[in-house]
Amino acid sequence: MKNVSIAIDGPSGAGKSTVARAVAAKYKFIYVDTGAMYRTIGLAAQYADVDSKDKEGIIALLPSVKIDMCYDESGVQRMLLDGKDVSTEIRTPRSSIYASDVSAYPEVRAFLMDMQRNMAKNYSVIMDGRDIGTVVLPDAKLKIFLTATAEARAQRRYKELCEKGMDTTLEEVLRDIHYRDEQDSSRAAAPLKPAEDSVMLDSTFLTFEETVAKVCALVEEKA
Ligand code: DC
Repeated sequence: MKNVSIAIDGPSGAGKSTVARAVAAKYKFIYVDTGAMYRTIGLAAQYADVDSKDKEGIIALLPSVKIDMCYDESGVQRMLLDGKDVSTEIRTPRSSIYASDVSAYPEVRAFLMDMQRNMAKNYSVIMDGRDIGTVVLPDAKLKIFLTATAEARAQRRYKELCEKGMDTTLEEVLRDIHYRDEQDSSRAAAPLKPAEDSVMLDSTFLTFEETVAKVCALVEEKA
């Protein structure tokens, strides 16, 4: 049977990854978190002391960046940078900003695109990101644009970060979300926008379970 691809795009903190993970587990798809790949490039820049706004510096770094992805025994995606598992480190607020900054460079996007498309060629995937339905997998069987208000997204992300013991405030998280919304949607290269054939899903007033149920209904119907 041919591999099936499902694309979930949307702004930061809309719940794409938790929802995609749950749906992937139910239908035995591989969940591919493309944001984690941008975060890993951002981390490589931090290690090398290259500012994320230094476009030439970031591009010069790419040939020496060795990124790998693997899945642990419970199917959770892990990111490796030069063989080291950096899956936790890439989640800090600083890494979020770095990821958003470096993702604006077309050279960085091209660097990661092959890896993303190869996953979809070899497996049935649910892939989340910003440009999956528009650029990476334009032929995806189902495209969902998952969104929520900035305030609702900030609340959720804040709770998540607190649970992980990270030291931050709701104001700081909301500021980061606004920064990334603006930058991810206004950049020239593969900006965040719904694909024309995507289904819009606003999760502001939905619980996690309700959102998963709606996505599952779409999977049953279309994929
Ligand atoms: O999904 P995330 O918040 O982990 O993504 C981190 C950043 O990476 C996000 O601000 C924009 C960028 N990104 C992107 O440009 N394209 C993708 N497909 C995924 C993420």
